[in-house]
Amino acid sequence: MGWYSQWVFPWILEAAMRQPRLEPLRRETLAPATGSVLEIGIGTGLNCSHYPLTCRSIASVDSNPALTARASRRAAEAGMTVAHQALSAESLPFEDARFDTVVSTFTLCSIPDLGRALSELHRVLKPGGQVLFLEHGLSPDTAVARWQRRLTPAWRVIGDGCHLDRDAPAELAGAGLAVETLRQCYLPGAPRFAGFLSLGVARRAIG
Ligand SMILES: C[S@@+](CC[C@H](N)C(=O)[O-])C[C@H]1O[C@@H](n2cnc3c(N)ncnc32)[C@H](O)[C@@H]1O
Repeated sequence: MGWYSQWVFPWILEAAMRQPRLEPLRRETLAPATGSVLEIGIGTGLNCSHYPLTCRSIASVDSNPALTARASRRAAEAGMTVAHQALSAESLPFEDARFDTVVSTFTLCSIPDLGRALSELHRVLKPGGQVLFLEHGLSPDTAVARWQRRLTPAWRVIGDGCHLDRDAPAELAGAGLAVETLRQCYLPGAPRFAGFLSLGVARRAIG
């Protein structure tokens, strides 16, 4: 891990993601969480206080070990037990069909090999299991999308690998996870190139 990811990015991440206006969206995304839960890219643990009260114990992974202490603190404050591992979602150390729910908030944008990570999510989900997602990404507005494509190379440097122009629902569907519910909106007050959000549920087929 480079010095930027270890020393600088955690502060940027905390400032960018700890926005009160994201809290109702986090709560809405996590409301259907049930059964055994895996959160990928837990970051600084900002989802911990938004899980339903029926969901007090989860597993999590994040490729940046510099975030682990802060995430653990947040989990404890929220009364959650989090079995965390500092590793990449592209190679998950779990058996097939282990989880009922996988959670990803603002993480699919940053994973270097997204295809591989999504195939891992599919593998560790039980048949009929769900992915709860809240992601920023590619806008349907042509002018905004053009700027997103232009800005992404520089944004990846500042955002530690974050892409502005990924289409999370399309990526999930392409990985065989059927997008069952989807709500899309611009985050009020955010620049449109960074604030087009997709929130919903994608499901692994039962058969
Ligand atoms: C923008 S942050 C979002 C953090 C958190 N999910 C939230 O909603 O506040 C993206 C997170 O994805 C993590 N990440 C990036 N690539 C990853 C990978 N390949 N596997 C697991 N986590 C990854 C980063 O370390 C970071 O914590």
